[in-house]
Amino acid sequence: MLRLRGPIFGSVLVALWALAVQAEWVDPTVLDACPGYNATNVQTTGSTLTADLVLAGAPCNVFGNDTRQLSLEVVYETTTRIHVKIIDPSTIRYEVPASVFPRPISSSASPDSAAIGFNYTEAPFSFTIYRTSTSEILFSTATHPIIFEPQYLRVKTDLPVNANLYGLGENTDSFHLPTYNYTRTLWSRDAYGVPPGTNLYGNHPIYFEHRTTGTHGVFLLSSNGMDIKINNTEAGKGTTLEYNVIGGVLDFYFLAGSETDPTEVTRQYAEVVGTPAEVPYWSFGLHQCRFGYQNYIEVSEVITNYSAADIPLETMWTDIDYMNQRRIFTTDPNYFPLSRMREIVDYLHSHDQRYVLMTDPAVAYAPGQGYGPFDRGTALDVWLKAPNGTSPHLGLVWPGVTVFPDWFHPSIQAYWSNEFALFYNPETGIDIDGAWIDMNEPSSFCLFPCDDPFTQAIQQDLPPARTTPPPDPNAPIFTNSTSMKKRQALSDQDILYPPYAIENAAGGLSNNTAHSDALHANGQIEYNTHNLYGTMMSMATQNAMLARRPGLRTLVITRSTFAGAGSHVGKWLGDNMADWEHYRFSIAGMLGMASVYQIPMVGSDICGYALNTTETLCARWAMLGAFSPFMRNHNDDTSLPHEFYRWPTVAQAARNVLDIRYRLMDYLYTAFHLAHTDGTPIVNPLWYMYPQDANTFPIDLQFFFGDSILVSPVTEENSTSVTIYLPNDTFYDWATLSPIQGEASNITLTNIDFTTIPLYIRGGVVLPLRAQGAMTTTVLRQTDFELVVAPGVGGEASGSLYVDDGISITPPLTTEVQMGYSQGKLCVNGWYDYPTGVNVARVLFLGVDTEPGSVVVGCGSSTNNATFSYDAASKVVNATLDIPFNGDFWVQMS
Ligand SMILES: *[C@@H]1O[C@H](CO)[C@@H](O)[C@H](O)[C@H]1NC(C)=O
Ligand SMILES: *[C@@H]1O[C@H](CO)[C@@H](O)[C@H](O)[C@H]1NC(C)=O
Ligand SMILES: *[C@@H]1O[C@H](CO)[C@@H](O)[C@H](O)[C@H]1NC(C)=O
Ligand SMILES: *[C@@H]1O[C@H](CO)[C@@H](O)[C@H](O)[C@H]1NC(C)=O
Ligand SMILES: *[C@@H]1O[C@H](CO)[C@@H](O)[C@H](O)[C@H]1NC(C)=O
Ligand SMILES: *[C@@H]1O[C@H](CO)[C@@H](O)[C@H](O)[C@H]1NC(C)=O
Ligand SMILES: *[C@@H]1O[C@H](CO)[C@@H](O)[C@H](O)[C@H]1NC(C)=O
Ligand SMILES: *[C@@H]1O[C@H](CO)[C@@H](O)[C@H](O)[C@H]1NC(C)=O
Ligand SMILES: *[C@@H]1O[C@H](CO)[C@@H](O)[C@H](O)[C@H]1NC(C)=O
Repeated sequence: MLRLRGPIFGSVLVALWALAVQAEWVDPTVLDACPGYNATNVQTTGSTLTADLVLAGAPCNVFGNDTRQLSLEVVYETTTRIHVKIIDPSTIRYEVPASVFPRPISSSASPDSAAIGFNYTEAPFSFTIYRTSTSEILFSTATHPIIFEPQYLRVKTDLPVNANLYGLGENTDSFHLPTYNYTRTLWSRDAYGVPPGTNLYGNHPIYFEHRTTGTHGVFLLSSNGMDIKINNTEAGKGTTLEYNVIGGVLDFYFLAGSETDPTEVTRQYAEVVGTPAEVPYWSFGLHQCRFGYQNYIEVSEVITNYSAADIPLETMWTDIDYMNQRRIFTTDPNYFPLSRMREIVDYLHSHDQRYVLMTDPAVAYAPGQGYGPFDRGTALDVWLKAPNGTSPHLGLVWPGVTVFPDWFHPSIQAYWSNEFALFYNPETGIDIDGAWIDMNEPSSFCLFPCDDPFTQAIQQDLPPARTTPPPDPNAPIFTNSTSMKKRQALSDQDILYPPYAIENAAGGLSNNTAHSDALHANGQIEYNTHNLYGTMMSMATQNAMLARRPGLRTLVITRSTFAGAGSHVGKWLGDNMADWEHYRFSIAGMLGMASVYQIPMVGSDICGYALNTTETLCARWAMLGAFSPFMRNHNDDTSLPHEFYRWPTVAQAARNVLDIRYRLMDYLYTAFHLAHTDGTPIVNPLWYMYPQDANTFPIDLQFFFGDSILVSPVTEENSTSVTIYLPNDTFYDWATLSPIQGEASNITLTNIDFTTIPLYIRGGVVLPLRAQGAMTTTVLRQTDFELVVAPGVGGEASGSLYVDDGISITPPLTTEVQMGYSQGKLCVNGWYDYPTGVNVARVLFLGVDTEPGSVVVGCGSSTNNATFSYDAASKVVNATLDIPFNGDFWVQMS
């Protein structure tokens, strides 16, 4: 099925044929023998360098003809960011549209003041990025020629031996990426079971590389399919990292990061992709979902069972079961009648609880059936098109044969917002509080070439089977010279079978998804924009939700993401399995999204989506999942139900851990607010906090929730012990509050029952906790605070608290408090415009060696002795305050 073009040298013909058919292996020597380019006409002005790149010798034409001349532009955009872009000036090649990915603000830094520098050699052209302070090379193409062909771009860098690389998601691999024989393929895929080593739902072509001398980032802004190969087998080289991209341009952002603080690079990446959208306070509560709820009665029972089991349930969800014949924007008249669904929503709202429903992108292809969402979209002509631009491109999804919304169509937002306004109308429809969007890779069950989706639908028993051919749709509106020109420029290429076949685990590019030759209204083809589909649906859905409730934050949870998606939506980690391996993987998956890709509202399906879970797995996972920013129990329709109340152990584990999570909710909320402000991560791998400690670099079975709570779950089936790593620092056991000194070594914890998860507070922090948990976040917000002072090695501690109304995008009033502790005195300062309406009930001072004589509280000019108790065994001073939390105060032990 693959064709080769261009002159082929006889001796390599056979090898190249094998390459094209079986792209798993590309002989590096063939690619390294390509001529590369010579730089000419180099011009430097201020922060910008430009040059022409001319093919340096005989073309190698590996996967198409080498482009003869390129142009290079290098811009020092800030003191910590260099943008390197290489394009073919003779044609319009695809670039990620700014409407989907707005380009970062460039402040044109002087190269002299920049933390990283760009260096190059002219002939053959190669470039390096180096850290200015040390001249250390961070990225270098020196020994590998750049290859630029119509459908194949290669850039390869040499890296240190055993480079510490993180990112390049979405994947189910170790957080610390392998450096031997490792390929990361980026091509959105409905990846049931989230198998390791394969491309999954989303695409994040960013990696962070950490060295004890600093941490930096490399982002390739490309939505084209690609394989990124990491290996360490080339003689004389350390690790090599090679991009193999099947279209677009080379558009790199190099981020300097920092020599001392790894989280600096996360903030710099946020400058490029945007900081995360703030979510409502309530969305940090517990969410319950499953595929397979049979009817509205069952949904209502789950809600009442949770409250009967005394487990706080904030938000109930329903999967596609509610739909009539699985068509979006419908309810099943018999199983989920609208009036009864409205009753459920009213019930939830009157109990300070919430409701979320699933919306898929694919719309049932239903001409003449009076199906409004299809008819209205057809009238607006908003469907993704077949290559001839006249008929809709058809796929096969839950309702049978479907069309796909074209998120590039100028009317698509109006269409999508209108459907949300109609179906989710608070007066007449289902008044959802958040949106869940799935299947947006986009997924299709149709097997390529999908010549007859109607027959496949019957064979797969997908309702409803259709036998009539598609009618002529309305005339397309994009027939525009610009669009046609773009289209012609690409018609030359083989967009169904590109000569370099990426290692898509679904097979060809178009298998189980919208075809790569499907056409958008703006003339773009799916070949280029496929990896953006889920993010564009995310943006449209966020806008539709904003239109329903103007000014209020949205909770939208998506499956497919691209770089920048976090500034619109959150994400769940897809259809995992109820096994211990996936329980463990859920940590690396969360770390990738939350601490690298700027999608902090993330979590896995707790207790596992597919397969039957077990009582012990579900108990452990309930506790681990409580330390994901997004906490949702979900499973599929072929497994047994696994709501937390189904087993006594799991119910107890859930109650225990939800009490902790809810007490920590303002700490989490404060961290999320900071993430929204500047991209600071809300969960941290250990090496972010201990960047000089090489033992932490590979750890992905422990992590920090926020930057202060070390979570160390039991990781093996049937086990009640776990060996964990404690860096050289002071910690406090969450359960006893006793100090424990980490000594940069492993310790083994034993007798951890199935309702307990090991937690430590990192020394050096003041935690703002709620004094107790609650059954809803509404009640939680009416609960007093307590402050926990956990001094670090130097005897000092600090923390912060951010409070607002929890729902406004631009809150009218905020309370922001700094807490500092040193030499026995805690000072709380800030502004208190948003009324918390509650007290500070008490302060706990941890690690106090001798009982203080007195504890004095000062507010304004008044001072009072506080009642306190001292526990010599745990070294905790517990001082009762009960003062309103509406102004500065201090608490001193003496
Ligand atoms: C590739 O280059 C050869 C000459 O080197 C030319 O004959 C051929 O038409 C080119 N192919 C394309 C697709 O441009
Ligand atoms: C590129 O530079 C090399 C080394 O200077 C030279 O041998 C070669 O002729 C140059 N190629 C072109 C096309 O100018
Ligand atoms: C830049 O490259 C040139 C030529 O390879 C080299 O002599 C010089 O040291 C490099 N400068 C830095 C700062 O790496
Ligand atoms: C890594 O190198 C080995 C040895 O050359 C090779 O067999 C393998 O295909 C390479 N893997 C990748 C992903 O490049
Ligand atoms: C590299 O990985 C591929 C895919 O996992 C495997 O088939 C191959 O045998 C590996 N090659 C080497 C040299 O380890
Ligand atoms: C356009 O392509 C579709 C899908 O291949 C086909 O069904 C339809 O007949 C074509 N329309 C025209 C006008 O050629
Ligand atoms: C057609 O192109 C013109 C000029 O580029 C542009 O103003 C117009 O919006 C385009 N129309 C459509 C439907 O894309
Ligand atoms: C499409 O995927 C199916 C499995 O889902 C596989 O059997 C088939 O070979 C794939 N076809 C292509 C063209 O990749
Ligand atoms: C789950 O358990 C039930 C009852 O034993 C069984 O019928 C079902 O097949 C199991 N599901 C899976 C995915 O193993």
